[in-house]
Order: sequence, then structure tokens, then C-alpha cells
Amino acid sequence: MKRVLSGIQPSGTLTIGNYLGAIRNFVKLQDEADCLFCVVDMHAITVPQDPEALRHNTRAVAALYLASGIDPEKATVFVQSHVPQHAELGWILQCFTYHGELERMTQFKDKSSRHEVVTAGLFTYPVLMAADILLYNAHLVPVGEDQKQHLELTRDVAGRFNRRFGDTFVVPEPYIPEIGGRIMSLENPEKKMSKSDESANAYISMLDDPDTIRRKIGRAVTDSEREVRFDPERKPAVSNLMTIYALCADVSLEDVERRFGGQGYGPFKKELAEVVIERLAPIQARYQEVMASSELDDVLRKGAERARELAAATLRDVQRKVGFLQV
Ligand code: TYM
Repeated sequence: MKRVLSGIQPSGTLTIGNYLGAIRNFVKLQDEADCLFCVVDMHAITVPQDPEALRHNTRAVAALYLASGIDPEKATVFVQSHVPQHAELGWILQCFTYHGELERMTQFKDKSSRHEVVTAGLFTYPVLMAADILLYNAHLVPVGEDQKQHLELTRDVAGRFNRRFGDTFVVPEPYIPEIGGRIMSLENPEKKMSKSDESANAYISMLDDPDTIRRKIGRAVTDSEREVRFDPERKPAVSNLMTIYALCADVSLEDVERRFGGQGYGPFKKELAEVVIERLAPIQARYQEVMASSELDDVLRKGAERARELAAATLRDVQRKVGFLQV
């Protein structure tokens, strides 16, 4: 059976970009593979976090996993910091990763330009991500397009280690949706929709209420012309909205084009808001239940136990191979 691992940072309220680009595929894959989904709180602290907010957001991301349809009977859900092997393997892998490789990471360049203080953790962030994946020998890593470069680095480091010490790690493949791999900002279709955007109008949060969703979609930028047509090159804003529509309503882009072709942006945006609201409503209702119950803590406790067991076996093998004394 294939193994799958992915993670999301608890650094703010998740957006429909996270949902459509990643979580939707997590739910799909849990029926086909042995899946592990973690909340990567150690990654979140690479930029400043308020401790109370981080604790809350960590539970919230796990609750959104369950509310979106991840079944803890099928998949392992856990918090990264509950499994110390991530940090331990992360350190070892840092010693097999080149400074130049990390300097080339576009996400690092982008994030470091936005923060006044750039920590060493932000720089080595992709190596911790490689450890997350390689600890579990994951074959597939469902992510959005922005993580592709990190996955390539993970593959390079795994290959390098395997060549030096013999087959140790599975070299993982990214699993990126063809449609929805990069949902764009509602205010600027050249920019990725991001939960850390300073303008809340740039994204739809998975927990936005119906009126907020209507308002944000109503204000979303469109392109010149009046036509609802999928053309990411010339009509990036409308093509982005059409992508959101198609994925939330489970229809094809052609269906969306046929339906709104002759109608202009007004009616399209109105219906888009309703489709998003309808898609999120059951998730939001279930989220409230999960957050209020102790079910979540049980899931996270059990998840960490299983993850630790798998991770410990890999780490032991790696420690032996690099020459750490075992007594
Ligand atoms: P993060 O927390 O930024 O985002 C979580 C997931 O959501 C995807 N995503 C998007 N997909 C489509 N359109 C968007 N606008 C959009 N924004 C975010 C991301 O690609 C990601 O799949 N480094 C990772 C977290 C991580 C991880 C891992 C992922 C840590 N360890 C191991 C996979 C495996 C990150 O910052 O994702």
C-alpha cells in the first residue's frame, strides 16, 4: 500500500486555497493509501507567533482536517511537535543539504523579504519538511504548486543520502492537482491566495460566514471584457474565480463557461458566492462540534503514538548509518 504524508502550518485560519489545493486531495487519498496528515507547528514558529494563538490554531487545523472529511479511523492525524523524531532527523538532514540549495528556495526569498528579522529556522525550513516526509517513507505528498520546489529538494536530499549509505529513504513524488494547485488572491490574480496576506479581502477563510463570503467575492477583481471565459493568460482573475466555482460545485470548467458564457460577471459572482457558502457550510458546522469536543485530543494522542512508532524505526536506521553510537 502506498504511503502518503502531508502537512499544513497552523499560522492563521486556513483559506479555500488550502482546502482546494491540499485538503480536498487528502480526503480523496485516505481511501487509497496509508495516510498521515500533520499540523506542522514547528514550521509555524519560523516566523513570530503568539503562543496562545499558535495553540488555538494547531487545534483548529486538526479540527478542519476532520471537519473536511478526514476520518481518523482511516488516516493518522497528528501534531508535528508531538513526534520529536522530526527535529532529530531534520538536524541530520541539514548536514546533507547545501547552503546554496537553500538559498535558491523561492519561498525563502519571498518570506525573508517580508520579515525584518530572518531566523536560521526560516532558512532551514525546507529541510524540516524533508524530514517530515522521509521519516515515514511517503511515496506521495499531496500539496499545492507552491511546495513543488521543496519537494524537489526533498527528493535530492533523499537521493544523496541513499547513494552514500545505501537504500534508506523512499524518494517521494509530489501530488499536485491539475486544477486548483494554485488558487490566486481575490485582489491580485498575480499573487497566490495566502492565509498570511495582510488584506483579509484577498482570501476566503474556510471559516468566513456567508455575508463575508458574498462581500469578498463581490469585491474580487475581474478582468477587462465582460465575458466569463477560462483563459488564465489573458483573464487570470476570472479564470481563478471559475476554478473556485468548478471545484466547489464539482463541475468542469467547460460547464462553468457554458452556464455563464453570455451573462457577464454579475450573475456569475453571485452564484459563485452561493456555491462556496454551500461547500463550506457542512465543514463549518462540523468544525464547531469538533472544536468543542474532547474527541480531537484523543485523535491527536493516538495519531502521535502511531507516528512516533513509524518515525522511531526510520530514525534508528539513519542514526546507525551515519555512525551514531547505539548502546
Ligand atoms: P502551507 O501551510 O503554506 O499550506 C498548506 C497546503 O496548502 C497549499 N496551498 C495552496 N494550494 C493552492 N492554492 C493556494 N493558494 C494555496 N496556498 C496554500 C500548500 O501548497 C500546502 O499543500 N511547507 C508546507 C507545510 C509542510 C508540508 C510538510 C507539506 C510542512 N511539512 C510535509 C507537505 C509535506 C506549507 O507551508 O504549507
